[in-house]
Amino acid sequence: MTQFKDQTLLVTGAAGHLGRIAVEELLARGATRIVAGTRDVSKLADLAARGVEVRKVDFDDAASLTAAFAGVDRVLIVSTDGIGSRVAQQTAAVNAAKAAGVKHIVYTSAPAARPNPDAGIGFEHYWTELAIANSGLGFTILRNHMYAENNLADAAHVIASGQLFGLIGDRGTSYVTRADAARTAAGALLQCEGQTIEDVTGPAFVTNVDRAALYSQISGKPVQVIAVAPDQLQAGMVSAGIPEGFAGALVAFQKDAVTGHFGVVTDTVERYSGRKPATLADFLAANRPALGL
Ligand SMILES: NC(=O)c1ccc[n+]([C@@H]2O[C@H](COP(=O)([O-])OP(=O)(O)OC[C@H]3O[C@@H](n4cnc5c(N)ncnc54)[C@H](OP(=O)(O)O)[C@@H]3O)[C@@H](O)[C@H]2O)c1
Repeated sequence: MTQFKDQTLLVTGAAGHLGRIAVEELLARGATRIVAGTRDVSKLADLAARGVEVRKVDFDDAASLTAAFAGVDRVLIVSTDGIGSRVAQQTAAVNAAKAAGVKHIVYTSAPAARPNPDAGIGFEHYWTELAIANSGLGFTILRNHMYAENNLADAAHVIASGQLFGLIGDRGTSYVTRADAARTAAGALLQCEGQTIEDVTGPAFVTNVDRAALYSQISGKPVQVIAVAPDQLQAGMVSAGIPEGFAGALVAFQKDAVTGHFGVVTDTVERYSGRKPATLADFLAANRPALGL
């Protein structure tokens, strides 16, 4: 179902990893009026050469957004990486969409987005979701679960040391590849109506014990889980050089895996992208060099 493929579809953050894949997916699925928005239009010259209209879109420059959103029917707002500024940035984008007469917003949110003090950086997604809901427009909020790619940050070190540090009581995470999340977002832009919130997950939840077993299997080396308390995990991250605030956000994610917020499995990827989501095992097998193998 691609009933909106001939409408004007804007993807913000189109020079980012997810945004670019979403634009490629729109092209592949036959969208005819694609607008790729980015802060630096020179990065998308190749897309312009392929018939995509490229516009400057910078949520920090609210005044410029009027031109950026002009004539747009439906928009994929890719959440920014401006942690701490995202509520203002993304609310500016929602306001611009409404003022321009956009009919439907797709937004990349996060699982269990909530205003609670234990939500880590998830609170920014919650307030953005609220701004979208209050706009009165149609929306599809896609709560993208943890990217499979996040594991690549420390997988080589975990395999080399044979030790995977995680929280006591971990109940698993439904890792989804960034590409699956991006194709799902493109599919939602092409076909969704109404006002819905959807969790975007991989095909199964994977505990730290499962993940250690996968690393062991792929590397042929023993990998053991060392289960620790949140303050120990935070201290370990800081002593490994991770800035305190970021370490706090990473620990908050792991706490959500303990409470079960990340153990949800849905069929959203398949419904909107038309493909089954990749398993973590497949993803790791396709990324052996990043694992130091
Ligand atoms: N689920 C997860 O595990 C996970 C992990 C990491 C990040 N995320 C979230 O998912 C988003 C997309 O992931 P990604 O891998 O594509 O991230 P990325 O490659 O780091 O891209 C960052 C994105 O933020 C956009 N951006 C930054 N400042 C902006 C501004 N002032 N106005 C408009 N857009 C701005 C960039 O757009 P341009 O460069 O095109 O202007 C780009 O699309 C991230 O930005 C983050 O919010 C989720």
